[in-house]
Amino acid sequence: MFLRCPAKKAGQSFNKASMQWNFQDIYDQAQVESQAVDSPQALETFRLKYLGKKGLVAAIFASLASAQSGDKAAIGKGANDLRGLVERLIAEKSAIISTAKIFEEQVDVSLPGTGETLGHTHILTQTMQEIISVFEQMGFVTIETPEIETEFHNFTGLNIPIDHPSRDAFDTFYLDAQDPSATGRRLLLRSHTSPGQVRIMKQNKPPMAVIVPGRVYRPDAVDASHSFMFHQIEGLLVDEKVQFSELKGLLTEFCRRFFGPKVIMRFRPHFFPFTEPSAEVDINAEVLGIQRKKWLEILGCGMVNPKVFKEAGYPKNKYKGFAFGMGVERMAMLKYGINDIRLFYENDVRFLKQF
Ligand code: PHE
Repeated sequence: MFLRCPAKKAGQSFNKASMQWNFQDIYDQAQVESQAVDSPQALETFRLKYLGKKGLVAAIFASLASAQSGDKAAIGKGANDLRGLVERLIAEKSAIISTAKIFEEQVDVSLPGTGETLGHTHILTQTMQEIISVFEQMGFVTIETPEIETEFHNFTGLNIPIDHPSRDAFDTFYLDAQDPSATGRRLLLRSHTSPGQVRIMKQNKPPMAVIVPGRVYRPDAVDASHSFMFHQIEGLLVDEKVQFSELKGLLTEFCRRFFGPKVIMRFRPHFFPFTEPSAEVDINAEVLGIQRKKWLEILGCGMVNPKVFKEAGYPKNKYKGFAFGMGVERMAMLKYGINDIRLFYENDVRFLKQF
């Protein structure tokens, strides 16, 4: 509907030249009309009425030709504002109408939703977190140290002298990169988490009780129980008076908490250059319901060798300590009855979602 108002000045005759547009009424009218629009057809009719070739905006512009020059600016602005308003109303309406249409035509709201399945942490991460939390409850602090190490931290500081055959036990991936702190020596991927002991002792004074979790690398042939990358958790406790019996007590209590009270473990004498005396701990797999092997080795441990304290710069005979290094994959295999280490790394969801 056109809303044309005759000139307000009394006594003037109504002619084209004095015709004025009451823009406020026009805007209000457009708003009211747009509210009634409820279908794509009605929207098109609305659009044509205002923006079509013969629509109101065009008519207002056309009236400029015969308008008085003083009115022209206001009429032009009014037409532009009207176009802006109508375009906005059309955009709003078409969004509402098209959403309504989708609901009407495509969505059966009575169907059950598809939902998103929630992921979870990897079984090895879960196992690490569980082990860490048991040690943290016993007062240990968690520290991470680098995976790329120097020969000093991985070997020398642990009383594994350069070119000594005991290095063979920790067969190592070397990097094609020089160690900036030792001429002629290359950097390597740590073959165990024990270099963490050296780093932490060099930076801290006893007493200390720390665990160092992380990845380690060895060029092992890959089979059901070996991988070139696996995870360890190192433990180190240093104080003035520390005894082997405390190490035994701690690890026994840890295993009971981790595997449950039924667990049967044994300490077997062993050799490590950085501990003296040293032992390995085996877990009775049968008791945990795993048939493959009766005993499965889970960790190496012992009393910190005084030579390691010396490398760390500690005064002679002042401190004692114990250390252990635990294989995380082995722990998970025993706890969850997994018989092949490769399953951890294949990323097969059918395996992963069981845990
Ligand atoms: N680093 C040894 C290994 O990888 C384990 C170990 C850690 C042994 C600490 C004694 C003390 O086999």
